[in-house]
Amino acid sequence: MCGIVGCVGRGDDTLDTLVSGLDTLEYRGYDSAGVALAGPGLDVVKKVGELDALREVLESESPSGRVGVGHTRWSTHGPPTDANAHPHTDCAGEVAVVHNGIIENYQSLRDELAAEGHEFVSDTDTEVVPHLVERELAEGADPEDAVRAAVSRLEGSFAVAVVIEDVEAVFAARQDSPLVLGVGDGATYLASDVPAFRRYTDRVVYLDDGEFARLDADGYAVTSLDGEPREKSVHTVEWDAEATGKSGYDHFMLKEIHEQPRALRQCLQGRVDELGGRVSLDLDLDVERVQFVACGTSYHAALYGAALFRAAGVPAQAFFAHEYAVATPPIEDDLVVGVSQSGETADTLSALREARGRGARTLAVTNVVGSTMARECDDALYIRSGPEIGVAASKTFSAQLAALNLLALHTVGAGDDDRREVIAALRDLPGDVQALLDDTDAEAVAREYVDSDGFFFIGRDKSHPVALEGALKLKEISYAHAEGFPAGELKHGTLALVTEDTPVFAVVTGDGEAARKTIGNVKEVEARGAPVVAVTDGESDVARYADHVLEVPETHARTAAVLANIQLQLVAYHVANELGRSIDKPRNLAKSVTVE
Ligand code: F6R
Repeated sequence: MCGIVGCVGRGDDTLDTLVSGLDTLEYRGYDSAGVALAGPGLDVVKKVGELDALREVLESESPSGRVGVGHTRWSTHGPPTDANAHPHTDCAGEVAVVHNGIIENYQSLRDELAAEGHEFVSDTDTEVVPHLVERELAEGADPEDAVRAAVSRLEGSFAVAVVIEDVEAVFAARQDSPLVLGVGDGATYLASDVPAFRRYTDRVVYLDDGEFARLDADGYAVTSLDGEPREKSVHTVEWDAEATGKSGYDHFMLKEIHEQPRALRQCLQGRVDELGGRVSLDLDLDVERVQFVACGTSYHAALYGAALFRAAGVPAQAFFAHEYAVATPPIEDDLVVGVSQSGETADTLSALREARGRGARTLAVTNVVGSTMARECDDALYIRSGPEIGVAASKTFSAQLAALNLLALHTVGAGDDDRREVIAALRDLPGDVQALLDDTDAEAVAREYVDSDGFFFIGRDKSHPVALEGALKLKEISYAHAEGFPAGELKHGTLALVTEDTPVFAVVTGDGEAARKTIGNVKEVEARGAPVVAVTDGESDVARYADHVLEVPETHARTAAVLANIQLQLVAYHVANELGRSIDKPRNLAKSVTVE
């Protein structure tokens, strides 16, 4: 959802720093990219398309300056064009601005400025900002005050960074869009996300809403928008820059799929005491009822989490975050849990704010330390997956499921399940995932069905979120039509779409009632000629009715969901790869959706 980067250094490497930062932020948007460098003069270079298009232009045009900002765009106002690419400038070309978010009052600001003679060349909301700064400068404000005054006119969500000709500083402000500073030796950085400057420093400062920062080569100063000084803590990032590379894999997504044993180990480390049959989290919660709010893949994890709490006899429900305010569920002594990889998803943040406003205690289950959600909620439970760069979530979904198991065990127990068995299955999970990754037929299955008319995914109980997630993953990276269902639902209409060209992936683990009934649904699609791919631990006889079997190691029903999902991640990956899709950066998508 747009990536911002900024740097003030002492040498001549600012441009390289900006471009390498944009490289790691491309997952936030890839419709266009641009940079602005200020020194004596102001150079702006921007180009529609992915970062490589900008790189090509930069081979012939060499903007110079020790102070700079860069941007990679996910379009909101105006289509992807050179003119709509950031940075945007004022009339005189002396002020350049990059922005992430939506300026809600941009039309009235634009009308006001146009009436004063300011000319606009783009369709974006952002372009009002450099013109506002220009007006303040023309009225005699110094650069910092000019930016502060301009920002204080904005309504909506924004992370903005501004450079001005002849000024050796970057100015930045945030409201409802992430922004973090990096404190280096002889250079200071800013970005939407830490990976953008992690190779230069591990010391970071998270800006809060309503804060304004001035960066120069010697450091930074943070104030409120009104200029009141703010004390900020410097945090040390625990992962290294290598974590943001591809490590020899063709795609980040494939690397992240293969990182799952490690991600799960990290998630469980120090939290599970197998001998004592205990889980200990640094959380003191008294849970009477739970509501989960989340979007996309994280919503599927939330469905799974709600099922775990219900299994322990605690009323629990998962809501799409964007429907939460409309649903207005009553809040009594509810815990409201936001599940979010990024911790920045605007819909989820807004649902949590709504819940807090209505008196709920809130908990963020997130991957990103220092994210807005982690800071705004009463408590945070980190899933500890390390950076996830591929736009399609993979390792973080698995870690979300593991973390939600820990949360349920810690707060409400295992219900009818045997606590020690669940804990043992969690302990074995990283090894089971490795065994699955070492021996899977997912690529062969993907090749067999790559040209299908459509794909269906079915599962019951804990396999239901897996079916939904399997379909979402396939859609987003292969662009094939796919739908996931609770297995019993298919016959209530969608069966009309099932043909011999629509493979049905049936997630069947265990040999209980859910498995037995799903096998009944498998027979229904088989009778209509659909190829069946069973994702199974082999405990039931579903393989008898299947054209292909994707095996998962035998485990507990709870952890079987994690394993089954990994087979479906691999199928999605290989289908997309066969089709030559842009796997890490699927069309129209961005990893972190910071607008509602
Ligand atoms: C799908 C995907 C999205 C996100 C959704 C929420 O692969 O990644 O569906 O799950 O946009 O994002 P987070 O988890 O960051 O709140």
